[in-house]
Amino acid sequence: MLPLFFEASFRMRAPDDKFPPTASRLLEAAEAFGTPTYVYDEAVVRARVARLREHLKGLPLRLLYAMKANANPALLKIIREEGLGVDVVSPGEMELALRIGFLPERILFSANNMTDDEMHEAHGQGVMLNIGELSRLARFGEAYPGAEVCVRLNPAVGGGHHAHVVTGGERSKFGIPVADLGRVRALLRKHDLRLAGLHQHIGSGIMSTSLIWRAVRVLLEAARSFDELSFINLGGGFGVPYRPGERPLDLENFHRAIVEPLKAFRAAHPSPDLTFLFEPGRYFVAEAGALLTRVNTLKAANGRLFAGTDSGMNHLIRPAIYDAYHHVVNLSNPDGPLRTYDVVGNICESGDYFARDREIAEIREGDVLAVLDVGAYGLSMASLYNLRPLPAEALLPAAPGAAPRLLRPRRSPRALIDAFLAEHTGRARATV
Ligand SMILES: Cc1ncc(COP(=O)(O)O)c(C=O)c1O
Repeated sequence: MLPLFFEASFRMRAPDDKFPPTASRLLEAAEAFGTPTYVYDEAVVRARVARLREHLKGLPLRLLYAMKANANPALLKIIREEGLGVDVVSPGEMELALRIGFLPERILFSANNMTDDEMHEAHGQGVMLNIGELSRLARFGEAYPGAEVCVRLNPAVGGGHHAHVVTGGERSKFGIPVADLGRVRALLRKHDLRLAGLHQHIGSGIMSTSLIWRAVRVLLEAARSFDELSFINLGGGFGVPYRPGERPLDLENFHRAIVEPLKAFRAAHPSPDLTFLFEPGRYFVAEAGALLTRVNTLKAANGRLFAGTDSGMNHLIRPAIYDAYHHVVNLSNPDGPLRTYDVVGNICESGDYFARDREIAEIREGDVLAVLDVGAYGLSMASLYNLRPLPAEALLPAAPGAAPRLLRPRRSPRALIDAFLAEHTGRARATV
């Protein structure tokens, strides 16, 4: 018997504009591969690439994908098929991009605070470096006089969905302050470096085109005085709607406010082959991903109803570190009456939650929930905290009628510990 206050908390279901059209395929994936499982919808990734391209039409354009958002190899292959390059921020990401088949000239290496070894590695692979510190630019010039380089500027404008993701402005560690442009110029001259590109990336989850435009204006002003530029990289950061009813970034307005001025800028710039780059991560993949998790424990305590799942902050840390909203739907009982839940994980932290005080169609133990819009910064920020294995990953192929495809199985706890001990002892299957 449920306590009385739960009976009182029933509501009729309101139409849910976030309920996934692929719900039956998601349930099929949960049946086939178990939970927890990240599932990516190929059609959504391709549609987002097409939509952004459409709104940048008319510009000499190269799109990169910021693979930190999600480095799943199947997604990277889709991105490569779509003709994009990649923005990488570590030797590991660069190695993966090269092995997936991205050509070095389609890769930009944007590591911050890189080591000498990382610098030599990227340059040795024929990958262009994007440098955001004066001392690194000096060391690059000393090592490779006459080389081409891209410089990341901090345009003194920043933004994003949370303070932790703001990467421009005076508190940001990223980029060379635009006020130091004279020192950049002196270093380029001293080492005979060719400034092939100027770059900025001011933050993540930005929903305001006017903020983007403010930063773009600063970068264009800087670019005006560099005649030999091949490209201007305006970064990523495009936000996506996470909440039901939230309006997406206004790309029509973006086109009007930014694309036309960029075209005019290019017409006036002396460089004949000047190209514009954008490098979104979230925009391409966030809405393509769902995390499937099974509720194993319902608990009524202190006037709250906790739905305890087989996943947690180890698999999706965004709610814990950004208080991020992710819509949660009950795939197993979509038409159930609404009740208010805290949807929580199985990790020993009180920040371990997916949703708080959230109305969801009635949840029963054993039901499968989908945590939505987790294709970006979901698995890529996951950890082995509490020594629980990572979720499986699966793809919903775009081909009509195609069954969900397992991309990466979930490890058993035993296999995880085998690998863990083997790394520590150097023996294939070790005990200590
Ligand atoms: C240099 C750089 N480019 C692009 C991105 C992608 O950002 P987003 O996923 O918000 O588009 C990031 C994210 O932090 C970044 O640091």
